[in-house]
Amino acid sequence: MDNSVQDAKSIKIYYFTGTGNAKKAAEWLKDSFAIDGQEAELYNMASRLSIEDMNVGESTLLGFCYPTHGFNAPPIVLRFLWQLPKTNNKTKVFLLNTRAGMKMSKIFTPGINGLALILPAIILRMKAYRVVGYRPLDMPSNWISVHPGLRQKVVKSIVKRCKYMTMRFADKLKAGVQVNRGLYDLPIDILISPIAMGYYFYGRFMLSKTFIATDACNECRICEKECPVDAISMKNGMPYWSYNCESCMHCMNACPQRAIETPHAYTALVWWLAFSLLPLLILKYAFQVSAFTEIQHEAIQKLLQFVLGGLIIFGAYKVLHTLMKFKAFNKLVAYTSLTHYKSWRRYKGPDVK
Ligand SMILES: Cc1cc2nc3c(=O)[nH]c(=O)nc-3n(C[C@H](O)[C@H](O)[C@H](O)COP(=O)(O)O)c2cc1C
Ligand code: SF4
Ligand code: SF4
Repeated sequence: MDNSVQDAKSIKIYYFTGTGNAKKAAEWLKDSFAIDGQEAELYNMASRLSIEDMNVGESTLLGFCYPTHGFNAPPIVLRFLWQLPKTNNKTKVFLLNTRAGMKMSKIFTPGINGLALILPAIILRMKAYRVVGYRPLDMPSNWISVHPGLRQKVVKSIVKRCKYMTMRFADKLKAGVQVNRGLYDLPIDILISPIAMGYYFYGRFMLSKTFIATDACNECRICEKECPVDAISMKNGMPYWSYNCESCMHCMNACPQRAIETPHAYTALVWWLAFSLLPLLILKYAFQVSAFTEIQHEAIQKLLQFVLGGLIIFGAYKVLHTLMKFKAFNKLVAYTSLTHYKSWRRYKGPDVK
């Protein structure tokens, strides 16, 4: 079967990005196609594209570049792929997901795909697209809620390596070589898939409630305007994060005042209350007044943890947002957030056009 993409009359690369990594990869691919006189158009999946206007034909090559979130493709990407029209098995596509690359001493360490490539590939196959290449790209990790942003020297070195890999990926596509680099980690990816599902259906909603703005905020509204999924609205003169948030880290990195924090101590306290203490206390009481068996006890505790946990986190976020109006509380939250300290760097990704 001919896999070459040289004859593609139109190349469209769709990207979603939080901090620029996936967009940079899309730009490198565009540059590589340009070397051979093929012009690729870039489209942002977050800019409400009309699927009807996509004009996908047999001689169109489609590419998708996006970050990995919670061992999966971000929901906005999955929704986008799900809406694509069916084809006749002739339209070629490639997938490239950026992951959390790191560098320890001189060793580059990879991120983990989970379902980030398999699921989009399955969706595309179901719609009869021909996946001619899929590979992960270990760009610098941007998850600064859990670790400080990488040093610029490290970022530059990882980005340089990734550029080389992306250009090679493009060369192989152009030469008609099927690229299955995304399959190398399949055993680990399958093992981790339950966590990916847990994140998709539950975890990400909890994470969207781990952003808050301190009194360093000057209400410039840049975070609100730049959020790719409109997840931020101003409430009582402060940004408020809705469940739409994809935790892409754009707002936290883009805030000129460095006002956006992950309130680590508050979050730890609320999560402990929500997922451990309260369900246990309720069950202890229920155990005394009814005839629960040990097995029922455990099953109900798990259920309570999920349901109560979600409700408590939602309620606690509203409380947090209200209490942030008080100076003393605001300061307490700021000083107990690791992200508040200068040593906890923000992530500065590669420059994108
Ligand atoms: C909420 C969140 C979850 C993430 N989950 C994963 C993951 O499961 N596996 C991984 O390798 N990288 C993960 N990352 C890292 C990003 O995928 C990676 O840094 C990516 O290059 C960011 O691309 P972007 O700048 O285009 O948004 C995660 C990052 C965030 C913010
Ligand atoms: S970008 Fe920062 S300063 Fe501006 S409104 Fe958002 S949190 Fe406040
Ligand atoms: S609110 Fe911030 S982290 Fe969430 S999707 Fe918008 S820009 Fe990304």
